[in-house]
Amino acid sequence: MYTSSIQEEILRVKKQKDILLLAHSYQPMVIQEVADIVGDSLELSKIARDSEYQKIMFAAVYFMAETASILSPEKKIMIGNPDAGCPLADGITAEQVRELKKKYPGTPIVCYINSTAATKAEVDVICTSSNALTICENLPGDEFIFIPDMGLGSWIAEQTSKKVVLWEQGNCPTHWEVNISEIEKIKAEHPDALMVAHPESNPKIRDLADHICGTSGMIKYVEDNPGKEFIIATEVGMKQRLEVMFPGTTFYSASRMFLCPNMKKTTPEILLESLKNEQTVVKVDDETAEKARTAINRMYELS
Ligand code: 13P
Repeated sequence: MYTSSIQEEILRVKKQKDILLLAHSYQPMVIQEVADIVGDSLELSKIARDSEYQKIMFAAVYFMAETASILSPEKKIMIGNPDAGCPLADGITAEQVRELKKKYPGTPIVCYINSTAATKAEVDVICTSSNALTICENLPGDEFIFIPDMGLGSWIAEQTSKKVVLWEQGNCPTHWEVNISEIEKIKAEHPDALMVAHPESNPKIRDLADHICGTSGMIKYVEDNPGKEFIIATEVGMKQRLEVMFPGTTFYSASRMFLCPNMKKTTPEILLESLKNEQTVVKVDDETAEKARTAINRMYELS
C-alpha cells in the first residue's frame, strides 16, 4: 500500500491529467503500487490498445511503449524513463532481419515482442512468452525462424516438432547470465519449494525448474499449488508482486542476479516528472507502425 508523499503526488497528477499508468511486473514495487494496472507484456499491449484513455504512460521498458504506439497511433503514448531500453530488443537490427530473409527465402519469421519497431516491421508474426508456443504451432508450414531471443527460442525448439532456425546473438542478460551454483544452493536450502522460471532463461536455469512460464503464468502457477513455497527464477519485481498478491506464501528469489537495470530506471521522481511535463512521448512513424501492426495483429489471430 502506498504511503509516501511522492506516490500521492503521482496519483494526483495522473488523475488530474487523465493519464492511464501501466506498469510491467518487473517495475519497482513503489511504482507497481501507484499503477492503474500491472501486467505482463501481452496484457499491457491489449489494455493500451483497448483503453478509452487517450494518454497512456508506460512504467516499463521502451519496446513496450513502442508496441502501444504501433497499436494505437492516435493515442499519446509516453514512457516513464526513455532511457529504459532492452538489450534483448537491441539484439537484432532490421538490417540483420532483411539478411535472414535473403538467406532463408519464404521461411516465416516469428519475433518476440521484446524487439524494436523497425524489427517488428520486417517479420511475419510477433509473440510474447505466454503465447509463443501456440503461435509457432499454429503458423502454417513446418519450419520457422525465431528472433531475437535465444532463451525463448531454444525453449520453443525443445517443444515443437517443427524445424527452428535460432538467432544465437540475442538474449536477456538478466535471464541469461545467472550464477547456477547460487540457484542450486537455494534449491538445496528449500528442497520442497517449487521453482518456476521464465522461458527467456538460460537452458541451464530452465533445467532446474519445476515449471516454465511467463510472468502472468507464474500467478496462475502459485494459485494452482496452494500450501507450497516457491523459488522465482525471473526479475525480482515479479517475486515482490507475488508476495503482495499471496501474503501467506513464501517466495525466494532464485538468484540475486535477477535484477533488470532497465526496469529499475523508472524511479518515482523520474516518473512524476514525466507525468508532469508529458514530454517523453514514444511515437513510431506511420510506415513502420503499419507494417509492425500487421505482424502484431497476426499474433492476436494465431493465439
Ligand atoms: P512477460 O511477457 O512474461 O511479461 O515478459 C516480458 C519480459 O520482458 C521478460 O523479460
